[in-house]
Order: sequence, then C-alpha cells, then structure tokens
Amino acid sequence: MVSEHSVSEHTDSEHTAQVLVASNRGPVTYAFREDGTLDARRGGGGLVSGLSAIGPDANALWVCAALGDGDREAVRRGVTEPGVRMLDIDAAVHADAYNGIANSVLWFVHHMLYQTPLEPVFDAEFRRQWDAYRTYNRAFAQALADSAGPSAVVLIQDYHLALAPGMLRELRPDVRIGHFSHTPWAPEEYFRMLPDDIAEELLLGMLGADRLGFLTWRWAQAFMRSCPPVLGPYDVAASWPKDLAPSIRVAGPGSARGRTWIGVHGLGADAEFLRERSRRPDVAERLIALHEQIGVGRKVIVRVDRTELSKNIVRGLRAYEALLDARPEWRERVVHVAFAYPSRQDLAVYRDYTAEVSRVAEEINARYGTPGWSPVILHVKDDFARSLAAYRLADVALVNPIRDGMNLVAKEIPVVSDAGCALVLSREAGAYEELREHAITVNPYDVAGTAEALHEALSMPDDERAERSKRLAVAATVLPPKQWFLDQLHALEALGEGGA
Ligand code: F6P
Repeated sequence: MVSEHSVSEHTDSEHTAQVLVASNRGPVTYAFREDGTLDARRGGGGLVSGLSAIGPDANALWVCAALGDGDREAVRRGVTEPGVRMLDIDAAVHADAYNGIANSVLWFVHHMLYQTPLEPVFDAEFRRQWDAYRTYNRAFAQALADSAGPSAVVLIQDYHLALAPGMLRELRPDVRIGHFSHTPWAPEEYFRMLPDDIAEELLLGMLGADRLGFLTWRWAQAFMRSCPPVLGPYDVAASWPKDLAPSIRVAGPGSARGRTWIGVHGLGADAEFLRERSRRPDVAERLIALHEQIGVGRKVIVRVDRTELSKNIVRGLRAYEALLDARPEWRERVVHVAFAYPSRQDLAVYRDYTAEVSRVAEEINARYGTPGWSPVILHVKDDFARSLAAYRLADVALVNPIRDGMNLVAKEIPVVSDAGCALVLSREAGAYEELREHAITVNPYDVAGTAEALHEALSMPDDERAERSKRLAVAATVLPPKQWFLDQLHALEALGEGGA
C-alpha cells in the first residue's frame, strides 16, 4: 500500500545485464498544470523501491503504458523521464485491455469475484476486447524487443501482461524473461471458467517466460495445477515439490517449447523507509487531527485499502457493527478508522461499491453514534501521510480480504504502530502464509466470526499485543522490496542466456 517512496543509495553492483521492467502502470504519471505545462508525479510501491536497488548506472528501462491525457502529452512532447518509456497505445485499445479484460475478467477470475448465476458471459463483445488485450500485449512485447540489448533481463509484471512473455520470446529468443504475478492465482476449476482457447493462450503466453514468480506457494501451486488440464493437447511435464525448484515443460503440437521455472518471492514491508517516513512533520500533523476526531482513551481499529471489491470493506464494516451490537461494552470505547481510497472508478461496479462503503459507514454512525462519539471515521481521499498516522495509532489492524495476492497493509501496520497492534487477518490474504502464527485469523465471509476476532484483538492485554506486533513486524520484513527484486533478477541471470 506504500504510495510514496524515497530512493536509497545502497545499490547492487553484482549483475551485468541490462534490466528492463514492464508494467501497465509506470513509476511516474503526468498531469497538466494550469499554464499547460506538465507536472510529473512519482509513484511508489515495491517495484519502484526494488528497481532502485540496482542504481542509476545500470541502464535500466521501465516500459509502461500512458494512462491519461497528461501521460500521452508527455510522450508527444518527448519529455518523459530518462529510464522510462511510455507507450502511447490507442486509448480505446487500452481501455478494452485494461478495464475490459484485465480488470473485469482476469482480476475477477483470480480473486473469484463473479456472481456466477449471471456472470461471466463470454460473448462476441468479450472476444472483441480480447483482441484489444492481444494488441496491447503486442505493443509491450515489440517495445521490449526494440529496447533490449543482447541478453538483457526483462521483468514483466502482472495479469495485464500475461501474453507479453510468449510474444517477446518469439521476437527475441536471446533475452531472459521473467513474469511476476502480484495477484492470487485462481483455483483450477475457477480458472477454467475462461473459454478453453483463451485459457490455453493465457497459459502459453506466460509460459513463454523463463521464470514465473508468485507471491506465495499457494498461488504458484494453483498456477501449476491449471496447466495440465488446460494444456491438454500439449505434453506438459510439471514438477512442483516446494523445495526442488518447480518447473513446467511444455512440448508440441508444433514447435518444441522450453522449460519455465517457478519461483516464490513474498514481498515484504520496507521497514527502513516506513519508520523514517512515518516520523516526518506531515504525519505528526495528521496524527493530531486524528486524535481529535477519535477522542481520548478510545481503542482504534484501523484499515487502509484501495476501494477494491476484493478488499471486503463492506463485510469489515458489518463485522464492526456486529461487534457493537453483540458487545455493547465497546460502545463509546472504540473507533473504527477506515480509509478507502478511490480505485478503478471507470468501472460501474467499483463506483457502486465505493458508494456502498460510504452508505454502510453512515448507517453505523447514525445507528450507534452519540454527540461525543463517531463509531466510524471514514476517509475516501488518498493521503499517504494520514495513512501512516493511522498506522501509528492502530491498536487493531483489520485486513479481511476475500482474496488478495499479498496485502502489504497487513505487513506495514505492525512495523509502524507506536504501541504495537493486534492483526485481524483473512486466511485468504497472501500475507496469511507468513503472518498467521501471530495474527488472529478469520474467514472473510464470516461476519460474526470477524466481530468476535475484533473483540479478541481489542481485549488483548497490552504486553501481549506489543509482543505479537514485534513478531509480526519481524515476519513482515523478511524480504524487503530491494531484496525481493534482486532475488528475482539474480535467479533469472543464473539461468544464462536465452533461459538455458
Ligand atoms: O495487485 C495487483 C496490482 O496490479 C498491484 O500491483 C497494484 O497495486 C494494484 O493492482 C493497482 O491496480 P491499478 O493499477 O488498476 O490501480
């Protein structure tokens, strides 16, 4: 969830190959100022921090899509930052690929978000959008092929670019290709809701990479389980014992294909950055404002999310309501600070969900609130400093996604919280694999169960909460972004040229 970052001076000088990164959303975005000039805003996240590990002299290139008018104008004026190549893909093609396929189909499949009696519907419109998804992936593959030096290492990101590895492999057999999935992978049966030919194309596209990275073993295994049934006409040899370097080899029909190695890299929180950033004056200012809103002596349950369907914000609010209902002793003694920042507002289903989050929060405040107590403090405007302030004062962190690739918030709050926090964590979050031992874990659909978990977390003695929080912070920071990135890079480099 980190959305702002600094660049460290500690860099890795071990690798020699040119490094290219490809992702839909790049590290910078451009907006028009009133006078028509362009303002560059830098983003954050694990990838930005990770790439900084190889330092400015490494001749790295980040290929991304131009996402708005400001980006497109920056491309036209030729003013994009050095080290960034933005692709000005036709806006309608981009919208079909990003909103239509990536976010309305692939995201829904991997997070199991469909209401299956009525959806999905794979009709002629879907096929038209799939063509756009191909075009968009081809634009990336071509740009990477044009920009990569001999034997370069190319790290392709996420479900937006599932076809790009195979397309790039055809254009440039000499480069080493990695693909990393930042999402979960659907269970085999759910994945097979996709039309057979599309599922096959998607898997073969990814298997064009030399190495596929996942955030957890659970998602890696789900991917591997999808391969044999979907790739029926091919000869698929999959081996997935966890400790024996799993790989998939696909042969014929047509040409022989290579082996794809599978790796797991559980991205961790960036403790150094978070601890320093959360002590700056703008965070202290937000802390004072939040303290005033919360009132004296109350416990605080914090959640910070994009308003994303998979984050399960509405059930989280309902669980809090159930707590106030079933355990009236908490009334006036607890506040739920919920930050739900805008996401994918081009999609009606996200706009509706955003409205529902606000409606339910208002309903709880109307039902239980008193003149001196607002049970829920909801903020919907993205403010990184305010998120860190909330992290600092959290007694309880609520992270209850329906399904989530990792969920970095679950890792960040224990690192930042001043007095230590208890973590209520969904068993469907990737972070569950590493944090479950010290968290209070929940079934995300079980609202009554989540209410009880909140009660348990709020009731935890201070010393136990502080101790558990310390252990959570240790587990959360095992693989900081720079090491996460370097591990992938070194694994690919170790494969030698052309993935041999
Ligand atoms: O979880 C997958 C992911 O691509 C993340 O890497 C990213 O934080 C998130 O989705 C954001 O998606 P979008 O670019 O659609 O806002």
